[in-house]
Amino acid sequence: MPKAPVKILIFDSGVGGLTVYREVAAARPDAAYVYVADDAGFPYGNQPESLLIARIIEIIGKAIADHAPDLVVVACNTASTLALADLRARFAVPFVGTVPAIKPACAQSATKRIAVLGTLATVSREYTRALIREFAAGCDVALIGSSHLASFAEAELAGMPVADDAIKAEIAGCFVDADARRTDTVVLACTHYPLLIDRFKANAPWPVDWVDPAPAIARRVADLLRGRPPGLPTPPPRIVFTSGRAPSPALAAALSGYGF
Ligand code: DGL
Repeated sequence: MPKAPVKILIFDSGVGGLTVYREVAAARPDAAYVYVADDAGFPYGNQPESLLIARIIEIIGKAIADHAPDLVVVACNTASTLALADLRARFAVPFVGTVPAIKPACAQSATKRIAVLGTLATVSREYTRALIREFAAGCDVALIGSSHLASFAEAELAGMPVADDAIKAEIAGCFVDADARRTDTVVLACTHYPLLIDRFKANAPWPVDWVDPAPAIARRVADLLRGRPPGLPTPPPRIVFTSGRAPSPALAAALSGYGF
């Protein structure tokens, strides 16, 4: 009897989780994937915490009940920094979260000046401040919150890119030149942002390393599922569920490019 494929649930407020999914799927191409986008609640970064936490628990709880995944990736910094502890306390399935990659960014920075670019919610969370206290000793960290970039990334993927000036205005605060030390590393602390990476590079005042946590998340998922060898030889299903609108034709084409 061939074994059923391992099933991985990926959760985000929108299409940002695709940047994590593509790395996880490269590490475990044999897995079945369920991608849940709470687009009716998007953007998470501008919402009150109390409403958001209940919403995240309800939606992920329903997806776990409906799909019985072997592992859940919370592919959203805004959700992970708020709800990961509660999710782990409430559900038995293993969770892998996405939190700002402050430790590796500080370790790799030569100038010891970095920036963390995330949603307004993520950069103001105690979770993020605690990461800085714990891992950023000797490194200057600029916390830059954006209320627009996640929407810009949604628009980019749907084939409606925003103008360069709009991108420039959102990333400008990341670039600090003081005390003869320039920012050399920027943490992408929102999973939507790697969708804009070419735009960021083109509009940056000087080149920096952009740290995307997705490869590290994929390694963690692969480690946790090491005991689960490939199942069926046929490609397992990859399905998207949204809580709001049906994808536009451009977005549907982008999703099918990702294997959905
Ligand atoms: N992709 C989400 C994150 O990583 C945020 C987007 C939103 O504001 O909903 O933080």
